[in-house]
Formats: sequence, structure tokens, C-alpha cells
Amino acid sequence: MEHITIYKENEIEKIRLAAQASAQVLDRLCAAVQPGMSTLDLDNLAECFIRETGGRSGSLNYHGYPRQVCISLNDEVVHGIGRADRIIQFGDLVSLDVVVALDGYYGDNARTVCAGGHPSPLASRLLEATESALMAGIEAAVEGNTINDISIAVQRVAEDAGFQCVRDMVGHGCGKHMHESPEVPNFRQRRKTPTLQAGMVLCIEPMVNAGTWEIEIDRQDQWTCRTLDHAPSAHFEHQVLITRKKPEILTLCPKKPIA
Ligand code: MF3
Ligand code: CO
Repeated sequence: MEHITIYKENEIEKIRLAAQASAQVLDRLCAAVQPGMSTLDLDNLAECFIRETGGRSGSLNYHGYPRQVCISLNDEVVHGIGRADRIIQFGDLVSLDVVVALDGYYGDNARTVCAGGHPSPLASRLLEATESALMAGIEAAVEGNTINDISIAVQRVAEDAGFQCVRDMVGHGCGKHMHESPEVPNFRQRRKTPTLQAGMVLCIEPMVNAGTWEIEIDRQDQWTCRTLDHAPSAHFEHQVLITRKKPEILTLCPKKPIA
């Protein structure tokens, strides 16, 4: 069976700081989204925000990924690459995924916002269902439960709202490395999944599509992941610490600003 790290308090404290840094960058980036900006403008802003935390981007150069953060619009699910010629339109769904490495540990979180506010009724339901699916997954993430309990909770909320969870991409452990065991799928597993223990750090990250769960990777850039039917998609992610009671959400809004 795969090895899952149980973090000790001194390491957890460092993961907290990295997670808070990534949360602050994500917050500032979401607030900066405006119609008329390019996705490269947003990535350049992210570079400043990340620098101000004292950390560095965990995504840049990861398997050759070329930008500071991932910016995915509308039917793009995840791993969109900022481009000068990609202009954000009023009403676009903008998914932002921010990973910050700080003092040897990783923080990772994501959120989807509507550019200019005023999402369409469908977009609004999609955002609400995806965030609710994330929160349901977090509620299931307690010691003694299994990964599958998280997966089932996420899937139920998304599907009850009439949507589908992406199956080819999953959440993950995250602490000393950006991607660690275990995988955290967003749909029910028919295999035995690991039991959660206090001290595990997990990224729970539902990617929810308004249409089919199926996706495809852009043939040109080899990164951008889109829905196969081009229906819109949303993505919310928190990094959480498993405890004996409710999990601690490490990427909640920082209590005190780092910058
Ligand atoms: N934040 C993404 C994740 O959850 C990883 C993005 S890094 C990339 O796993 F380089 F792969 F884009
Ligand atoms: Co992640």
C-alpha cells in the first residue's frame, strides 16, 4: 500500500505558513479579476503577489509548466496557461489555482470566480454546487473515515445539482511535496481506499462540469484541460489537516496579511 505521511507539529506549522501564503495570493488574485485583462496580466500579478509572501510558485517548471499559476476559463477545467492574447470577457468563469512553496513546504488552493460578477443562472448553480461539494468533502475528512467517504460526499453534492465530477484528475496529499499520496478522487471508488489519520494533509479539489465529466488535453500546449463537450467547468480546492475532529482548513483566508 502507498505511503501516506503523518506530519508532526513542527512540520504542520510550516505547512500552515505555506498554505496561508497560497490562500492570500489566491484571494488577491480573485479580487483582481476584471473583464478586459489578459490571462497573462493575471499571471504577472500572481508573480508579484507570490513574491510578496517570500515564497515561490510551486507550479512554475513543474514538469515544464511555464507559468506562475493556472488560469482556466469557461470550458477549461484546469492547467490553463496565461496568454497575452487571451482576454477575459464579462461573465467568463475564471478558475485560479495557486501553489506556493515556502521554506520547503507547499500550499495549494483554487477557486472559480465570474469576471465582472453577475454569473448566468447556470454558472451560478455550477459555482455554488462545486463549492458545496468541496465543503461536503471537507466535512467527511475526519480521522477514521476513508478517502472514499470524501469522494462519495463530493460526488453526491455535484450530481444532486445535475452536474458531473471530472474523473481523470484527483486531489492529493500535499506538504513536503506538491503532490503526495494518497489520491483523493471526486467520485466513488470501487476499491478499498486508505483510512484517514490525524496528521495527514490533503488537497480536496472537485472539478465539476456542467455537462459530461469527460475531458481532453489541448493538443498544442499539452496542458490546458477542457471539457469534451465544451460545457463550462468550475474548480474549488482547499488544503486540509486531518484531525480527530473536524479538519483544519489550512487555506482559509489568512488571519493576518503576509504582504
Ligand atoms: N495545483 C495543481 C494541483 O492541484 C497543480 C498545478 S501545477 C501544474 O495539483 F504545473 F501542473 F500545472
Ligand atoms: Co491541488
